[in-house]
Amino acid sequence: MNDKLARWNKLKEICLRCTACPLAARRTNVVFGEGVLDSPVMFVGEGPGEQEDLQGRPFVGPAGQLLDRMLAAVGLSREKNAVICNIVKCRPPGNRTPTVAEGEKCLPFLRAQVDIVRPRIIVCLGATAVRHIISPDARITRVRGQWAERKGFWITATYHPAALLRDPSRKVEAWEDMKSLQAKMKELGLPVNS
Ligand code: URA
Ligand code: SF4
Repeated sequence: MNDKLARWNKLKEICLRCTACPLAARRTNVVFGEGVLDSPVMFVGEGPGEQEDLQGRPFVGPAGQLLDRMLAAVGLSREKNAVICNIVKCRPPGNRTPTVAEGEKCLPFLRAQVDIVRPRIIVCLGATAVRHIISPDARITRVRGQWAERKGFWITATYHPAALLRDPSRKVEAWEDMKSLQAKMKELGLPVNS
């Protein structure tokens, strides 16, 4: 754990100084990601929004509040047993979707984060995470709730909480995806507290 924390903090230090892509120019804060480093589950969003940029923390705006509730519903939280990261660590102006080039520039940070945490499960939140983690032509509507094992990680996807705020009718499917996550955790012998 201490070793994980030391590696995480070292990586974070580098990330906070990163200017590798154009998103560096207009950020207020780099949003590295946070959570418990021994967690079995990592969630990956798209990139910081306004609140995240201002506070330097992932998923702390309206979408983040919904995410926290989704996690709590299956016994997960960033304080106890989950890690929350993004594809890009700097806010795209006006919350536009990060370009493929920006995502690819930033991806080594996420890869290193995965390498430190070594979660059993990675949950892609929305289309951008799906594109970069699962495949460039994977569609969120098709891959959500599906599971694939890759390099020892179980990977799945669900809708981005911001998409659920725009279209609450998708919450039914998102809930199914969270139940599927819980079932996978049980199957893998991971503690499920709820
Ligand atoms: N949306 C994201 O994709 N990530 C955040 O951290 C906040 C909102
Ligand atoms: Fe660096 Fe990622 Fe920020 Fe681009 S988004 S400047 S690659 S940390």
